Amino acid sequence: MSEQQSKQQLSSWADFRRVLRESVNLIGFWMTLRYVLIWLLSYKPYKDSSFDKSHGTDTGGMIATRDLDLENESDRWQSNLYLGSPARVTRRIIEALDIDCRDYTFVDYGSGKGRALFIAAQFPFRQVVGVEISPALHRAAERNIERYSGAALQSHIALWCGNALEYELPAGNLVLHMYHPFGPDVLGQVLSHIENSAGDTPRRILIPYLFSIGVAKAVFREHPDFKRVRDELCVNNLYRWTLYEYLPDA
Ligand SMILES: C[S@@+](CC[C@H](N)C(=O)[O-])C[C@H]1O[C@@H](n2cnc3c(N)ncnc32)[C@H](O)[C@@H]1O
Repeated sequence: MSEQQSKQQLSSWADFRRVLRESVNLIGFWMTLRYVLIWLLSYKPYKDSSFDKSHGTDTGGMIATRDLDLENESDRWQSNLYLGSPARVTRRIIEALDIDCRDYTFVDYGSGKGRALFIAAQFPFRQVVGVEISPALHRAAERNIERYSGAALQSHIALWCGNALEYELPAGNLVLHMYHPFGPDVLGQVLSHIENSAGDTPRRILIPYLFSIGVAKAVFREHPDFKRVRDELCVNNLYRWTLYEYLPDA
């Protein structure tokens, strides 16, 4: 363990003791104990290495926005942290779309280290594209593509590094996967950008939005051409998702 890692562990232990002490003062011993037990039993997505163990990749961990290598201050404010989706969740979302994947391109807005891309590429999409603003995460995804082992992928993965606001949509039907990647201002601008680039050619644009919280729903309500098709609930809010379809009023 490096000196820096042991220092970090020490400070997180000190932080934890402080949280315990102040919680007992605030909500009492028994309530604090209940919350500690719940935390101990809970699923910790940042520790889930099951996908990486099977595929030789490194898609795990959680990276706070302040630690992302984003030079532009406003990008940092409007970007959400990195945390990979559990493989099972992405698979379930794609299956629930009930589409013939061969007719669609799958784009992951905020693709991070690429875990959702690998799951999508296990389906026969025309292409799978990862759009990621952090150059470090983009490079991690590139390394993962080189390292990936396991069942052959059914579709090609392409990576695009930059702000989702500048990403030009591919032609044809689209699945635009979003795991709560950015704040409401950027989400609103991305939706306007999608509307502007959708064009007049009839095509389907589906947006499965994971971690579908009120603030994101409110932004979609401001863009009524994205109709809410279904909401799928989960005991863990992180995995509630909503499916939107771009259906402009005639
Ligand atoms: C919650 S992670 C999602 C990871 C991945 N999509 C998955 O499901 O495993 C959100 C990602 O969005 C990226 N991001 C944030 N703002 C962005 C922007 N404006 N353009 C592109 N990517 C962005 C973050 O760097 C982070 O990697």
